[in-house]
Amino acid sequence: MNIKVVAGNIAEQNTSAVVVNLFEGVKEPGGATGAVDKAMGGAISALIADGEIKGKRGELTLIHTLGSIAPKRVLVAGLGKADSFTLDGVRSVAAETARHLNGIGVESATTIVHGAGIAGLDDHASAQALAEGVVMGLYRFDKYKSNAGDSSLSEVTVVEFDQSKVETLRQGAKAGRVIGEAVNFCRDMANEPANNMTPSEMAERALEVAQAHGVELEVKERPWMAEMGMGALLGVAQGSEEPPKFIIMRYSGDPENEENNIGLLGKGITFDSGGLDIKNAAGMSTMKGDMAGGASVIAAMQAIAQLKPKVNVTVIVPATENMPSGTAQRPGDVVRAMNGKTIEIDNTDAEGRLVLADAMSYARSVGLSRLVDVATLTGAMSVALGDQCMGAFGNDDEFTQKVVDAGNAVGERAWPLPMFDEYKSQYSSDIADIKNTGGRGAGSITGALIIGEFNDGAPWVHLDIAGTARARSSKGATVKGATGVPVRTLVQLVCDLAG
Ligand code: BES
Ligand code: ZN
Ligand code: MN
Repeated sequence: MNIKVVAGNIAEQNTSAVVVNLFEGVKEPGGATGAVDKAMGGAISALIADGEIKGKRGELTLIHTLGSIAPKRVLVAGLGKADSFTLDGVRSVAAETARHLNGIGVESATTIVHGAGIAGLDDHASAQALAEGVVMGLYRFDKYKSNAGDSSLSEVTVVEFDQSKVETLRQGAKAGRVIGEAVNFCRDMANEPANNMTPSEMAERALEVAQAHGVELEVKERPWMAEMGMGALLGVAQGSEEPPKFIIMRYSGDPENEENNIGLLGKGITFDSGGLDIKNAAGMSTMKGDMAGGASVIAAMQAIAQLKPKVNVTVIVPATENMPSGTAQRPGDVVRAMNGKTIEIDNTDAEGRLVLADAMSYARSVGLSRLVDVATLTGAMSVALGDQCMGAFGNDDEFTQKVVDAGNAVGERAWPLPMFDEYKSQYSSDIADIKNTGGRGAGSITGALIIGEFNDGAPWVHLDIAGTARARSSKGATVKGATGVPVRTLVQLVCDLAG
């Protein structure tokens, strides 16, 4: 997708379609919409007067201009009520208009920035949300469809009347394209079937990022994991024929200050059968997506490496399948994680916390001072919060709030859950330091607390995306299938930390 920003009058653009907008209840359009209306002899106000255009959110009205102005078509997008219009609205409207124009075969479209006028949204942020919406909204995973055609829409030009705003809009649009592409890269990984998205393939995708954007990459194999004492990760991996990979990526945005760093960790279970505590058919059907957390941190790195914030970022993905077999780990086994803690395997299906235990221990051993982990960790997460927001769990309220704020700023909501010490007794073991499950109650919290056993006191936030990693239908910038959550939150957080 090519996104340009130019100065000019939208009504005079030589293009097959221009997009303008209207807030609900506006009878006489102003700004760019007013200019187009005027140039067309009042065609838009006539449709408003007839009640055909109301400006409701989601409303799209296509007008063929038949030579009355330079653009061939005008698409009027309803924005809903002005006082409740946010950057989320910009992103959604951009996505929906892009999908609409793509659907009717438009190759190149011209648009104004929604929301920067009456709604008073920030120019940079609006342009960014617009670009994110276009890129994310047009996403499709159709590589296995024999009859998949190409997307038609390949160029969007943003027109701004005020020349002095153009440079800001350009920067916002560029950031939005980079971030939207990272989201789609995450979606591509998480939508890919598990027969192709193996741990080795995850490492390949990380290599693509490393080569394209100049970040460091190390991919560690089984013998290294054994040397490091990663018994928890190796225990999960031992049932699978696929070799596990421990993926490490490093971006140095502040090389003079080593300690100005953050570790982004992601669960990389490329297929979760449950292991010997095997899932049923319904439970297993979406488990190719159990590496969505890992995909999100690799994809966030793709954007971070291009946006270049002044902070050092290390991405860590423990990647393996969780399979039942003659070599698989058994319920009742005891493993030792890298930090020395022993874990009784109460349930082989609680594998995410095991691989993250070693990833966390490793992160601390290499001096990472702030940690965020992302995981499709617990089915209980969907029970608690559904698909409207992620769960956020942490050991440092200020840092947790920073992560939640970053999510709110980009329209990916996270909600903090309590981490009371009293929950910890739920996962005490008779024979080991802890066991890997905490019983039925508060399942997402005990899962988070178990990961927290390995953070060695560093400020840490765990995001459980079990409910939000996959969408059942398309809406706004969300496309059915893998959502790419929380790539945008992670990128925003890292940029916030860089100041
Ligand atoms: N990957 C699953 C969690 C999951 C379930 C993610 C549904 C997305 C949708 C995880 O590894 C798992 O199996 N968790 C168990 C934990 C339990 C055994 C303590 C669960 O949630 O049932
Ligand atoms: Zn899992
Ligand atoms: Mn599992």
